[in-house]
Amino acid sequence: MMRLRTSFLFISFFILSLGFLEAQKVPAVYVFGDSLVDVGNNNYLNDTFAKAIFPYYGIDFPTKKPAGRFCNGKNAADLIAEKVGLATSPPYLSLASSKVKNKNVSFLSGVNFASGGAGIFKGIDPNYMRSIHLTEQVDYYSQMYEESTKQIEVSTLQKHLSESIFFVVIGNNDIFDYFNSKDLQKKNTPQQFVKSMASSLKVQLQRLYKKGARRFEIAGVAAIGCCPTLRLKNKTECFSEANLLSVNYNENLHSMLKKWQLESKNLSYSYFDTYAAIQDLIQNPTSHGFVDVKAACCGIGELNAEVPCLPSANICTNRQDHIFWDSVHPTEAVTRIIVDRLYNGPSQYTSPVNMKELLHVSIAKSLSPFTFFILLSLLVTCYQTKTN
Ligand SMILES: *[C@@H]1O[C@H](CO)[C@@H](O)[C@H](O)[C@H]1NC(C)=O
Ligand SMILES: *[C@@H]1O[C@H](CO)[C@@H](O)[C@H](O)[C@H]1NC(C)=O
Ligand SMILES: *[C@@H]1O[C@H](CO)[C@@H](O)[C@H](O)[C@H]1NC(C)=O
Ligand SMILES: *[C@@H]1O[C@H](CO)[C@@H](O)[C@H](O)[C@H]1NC(C)=O
Repeated sequence: MMRLRTSFLFISFFILSLGFLEAQKVPAVYVFGDSLVDVGNNNYLNDTFAKAIFPYYGIDFPTKKPAGRFCNGKNAADLIAEKVGLATSPPYLSLASSKVKNKNVSFLSGVNFASGGAGIFKGIDPNYMRSIHLTEQVDYYSQMYEESTKQIEVSTLQKHLSESIFFVVIGNNDIFDYFNSKDLQKKNTPQQFVKSMASSLKVQLQRLYKKGARRFEIAGVAAIGCCPTLRLKNKTECFSEANLLSVNYNENLHSMLKKWQLESKNLSYSYFDTYAAIQDLIQNPTSHGFVDVKAACCGIGELNAEVPCLPSANICTNRQDHIFWDSVHPTEAVTRIIVDRLYNGPSQYTSPVNMKELLHVSIAKSLSPFTFFILLSLLVTCYQTKTN
């Protein structure tokens, strides 16, 4: 009896320290992408209309004010930070503009490079909707990396980056652009277009890899044809062509990642099937308390999707029961469920591992032979106690 208690004590202690290790294991999160993860970069752009600076954006954010998120509350970048126990990584342009003296400190605690409206490609109408597209985001990252190498040991920097998470959410705007541009459609078949999206993304991921990134959390595109603005093209039903293109792109992305991992040493990734996770909510809304899967909560006209969410727009009474916040973005309620699936699985949405397992990969590696020996002895003790 005594031995049993002691073993349990040791095992609990071991599990507790493992939990502690896990909480400590991610030193920083670096975010790249579009409006689904922009936490305020676009507020620093002078020449863009893609800014979340008006009510009712941010109505459910802790400050109850527009917070540069294209959402009623927190977005996926905030919620990922919550999952790993870190503060939300600050927008790159806020660091650049406030001329932070200890730039290495800001860089080492994580940076968000994402920009509303950004795509893998530069976009079809850069004058009207200027954003920081992916190549530029990686340029900014590279600059910060180079500056840091002047301030700290390269090996220290690389160890830090190799343990950090690189969260990438991009591609949605490229697919919107394809449907808005006769020119793009003329130059590329849908198949050619999604293939070039995946290969262009790979080039940028390789640049991050060359500058220390090793652990990637990569989200596929959403069910774009089901967002309110594209439902207007099909009598409020999902627009099939956009959904088909989304699925095709995700397939290309997923196989690109598999190949890339084979070519690259120490690379680990988790791919998240955003499309499947959101389709599940749209098709089974009631099990999660959703009532309206079609209309935007905030906007004007049919499905509240004909005019953007501006101060003069309608706003729904219950933001918890809507899938969509505005004509293209999900509510915080949906984002919470999505981020939970990205972090915890199940495996129908995450491949080859979920984000929690992605963090675990290096924990297993970092267990010393000595720790392994202790664990083994504990297990044996426990087993013996049980059989006695
Ligand atoms: C925006 O304009 C201000 C004032 O003209 C300038 O100092 C700043 O660099 C500009 N910001 C960007 C991101 O171009
Ligand atoms: C940042 O760089 C300064 C020297 O420029 C150094 O004293 C400080 O320790 C560095 N901070 C971190 C967190 O490495
Ligand atoms: C419109 O929606 C219906 C029902 O979901 C679907 O069968 C059809 O393919 C859609 N048409 C277009 C053009 O998206
Ligand atoms: C891979 O990881 C090992 C062990 O941490 C390290 O020695 C090696 O330099 C790494 N190689 C690359 C390319 O990251």
